[in-house]
Amino acid sequence: MKIFITGGTGYIASHTALSLLDLGHDVILFDNLSNSSVDTVGNIKTISNKDVSFILGDLSDTKLLSKTIRENKIEMVIHFAALKAVGESVAEPIKYFQNNISGSLSLFEAMKENNVKNLVFSSSATVYGEPKYLPIDENHPLAAINPYGRSKLHVEEILKDLAFSDKSWRIICLRYFNPVGAHESGLIGENPNGIPNNLFPIINNVLCGKLDKLSIFGKDYKTADGTAIRDYIHVMDVADGHSAALNFLSKTDKSFEMFNLGTGKGSSVLEIVNAYEDQSGEKLNFEFVDRRPGDAEQCYADVSKATKYLKWEAKRNLQEMCGSAIAYNNLNKN
Ligand code: WQD
Repeated sequence: MKIFITGGTGYIASHTALSLLDLGHDVILFDNLSNSSVDTVGNIKTISNKDVSFILGDLSDTKLLSKTIRENKIEMVIHFAALKAVGESVAEPIKYFQNNISGSLSLFEAMKENNVKNLVFSSSATVYGEPKYLPIDENHPLAAINPYGRSKLHVEEILKDLAFSDKSWRIICLRYFNPVGAHESGLIGENPNGIPNNLFPIINNVLCGKLDKLSIFGKDYKTADGTAIRDYIHVMDVADGHSAALNFLSKTDKSFEMFNLGTGKGSSVLEIVNAYEDQSGEKLNFEFVDRRPGDAEQCYADVSKATKYLKWEAKRNLQEMCGSAIAYNNLNKN
């Protein structure tokens, strides 16, 4: 199939493109390169040994989106493009709502113009807000707690209305928990512009000397070792989850569905630190500091719905997540 990937040179999109190319699909990557590098296109070609098209453009350019969809005879769209830094979204909500919501509407309009109605939307576990129960299943209350999370939730609501208005749409929202790690080649991985907020890129920066030490936010949680727990999932498992979702889309008669993508297992910050030390053979310099405002004590997924309907489950473990992140960073130190 001809698949159009917005945000195509981004972290999860680029790994998903590899998974799709492996399955024999053709992919067209679309990105404004605001938080990624065009080098990723060449790296995807090198890894897959397949040709990959890249279009430089912005979600706001509905005409370009429509032209690209039409000229490439696109059959399915995976929509990753979004701003995703929680802290930045609190400081600049208009920028986040403009890009993530208006940009999505521009894409959906371009799809509708070309009668392309198969869509996988890159959503996030952040739409659940503070966990009310664990593990979190897809029926958990939705209560985003920051503009980034609200932008994801609003787009999900828009897609639900779109599917209700026209049953010929086939839409899946995938809610990722904590995607981490990198492709085994070490050629692509998580490389956010600017100062990272997330645990794995920060640990990577400590290991390569860009940061002096890791500050662990909170040692007084009611967990086995006192540090907070998350559902970390290898980015290649997330990528495979998208291939499984596209397969489900081509067969289902449901116009709207959502699935969690996680491992179903929680790991603490200290467990991550230990896995990194095992894989790198180096001691990680860290200190315990106060909790980060807004952090949940525990957050991990119930993934039984994706396993049942997408015939998908995560296969890679913490060692592979940390080991692949280290390999990527060793290859891309500068
Ligand atoms: C993980 C754990 C921190 C940094 C975020 C977004 C969410 C989604 C995934 C996009 C927490 C601890 C972290 C540090 C630390 N992104 N930590 N020291 O907060 O679970 O989720 O990324 O969809 O929207 O909110 O991920 O990696 O920031 O934190 O101790 O320097 O690591 O407290 O327990 P989080 P994270």
